[in-house]
Amino acid sequence: MGEPFILINCKALSEGMGNRAHLIAEAAETVAEESGVRIGMAPVYTEIHPVSHHFRIPVFAQHIDGVPPGAYTGHVTAAAVRHAGAVGTLINHSERRLTLAGIEAAVRAARDARLESVVCTNNDPTTAAAAALGPDYVAIEPPELIGSGVSVCKADPGIIRRSVEAARKVNPQVKVLTGAGIQTGECVKIALELGTNGVLLASSVVKAPDPEKVLRDLVSLVPATRRVG
Ligand code: G3P
Repeated sequence: MGEPFILINCKALSEGMGNRAHLIAEAAETVAEESGVRIGMAPVYTEIHPVSHHFRIPVFAQHIDGVPPGAYTGHVTAAAVRHAGAVGTLINHSERRLTLAGIEAAVRAARDARLESVVCTNNDPTTAAAAALGPDYVAIEPPELIGSGVSVCKADPGIIRRSVEAARKVNPQVKVLTGAGIQTGECVKIALELGTNGVLLASSVVKAPDPEKVLRDLVSLVPATRRVG
C-alpha cells in the first residue's frame, strides 16, 4: 500500500502506551485492511517491537539519532529501530527538534538502514530545506496548531499549499504529509485536495475512547481511486 498515508504519532501520551498501543494498532490494522488506505503508527520506542510483531501495519520510530552503530551510549540508531521492526522514522518532530546537520545525518542514517524517513517542518521555507535532503516525506505541522484541536486544513490551508509547492520545486520525488489538529475525514479530504499524500496526527486517535471509530471517519472521504484493492 502506498498512498494516501495516515500516520498516527503516539508521542509519549499515556493513552498510547501498553494495552492502548495494542488497541490503536489493532484499529489501524482493521481500518487499513478494510479501506485500502495505508495507516501507520509511531509508538514509543519500547512498543516498536511488540506492535510490529503482532500487527500488520507499518511501524515508525518517533526519532532517530544520525549516528552509526557504535560507542554512542543512550543514542537510538536507525539500525536499532529497524531490528526492532520499524519500517520508518519521524525526524525533527516539533517536540524533538534537531539542527540542520542533525536532520541531514538522520535522513542519511535512515536511508542506509532502509527506513522510510518523514522529516517534520514548521513552515514552507523549512519544508523546502528538508525536501532538499531527500527524505521520503516531509510533514508540515504549524507548531501553534499541534494538539489544539483546530485543524491546519481549515485554519491555514495556505501553508499546506505553499509547502507542497516548495517541496515539489526542490525535490519532485518527495511526498508531503500535513498535520496539527487533524480529526475528521473532511480534514483528510482537504489535505489530499491541497496536494498532500496524507496526514500525520496524534490526539484525535490516540486520546479517543474508540480509536477505530475515529479512523473509520478519517478514511471515509478518501476517493476510491486512491485506495488499494
Ligand atoms: O505528530 C503529529 C502531531 O504533532 C499533531 O498532533 O494532536 O494536533 O494531531 P495533534
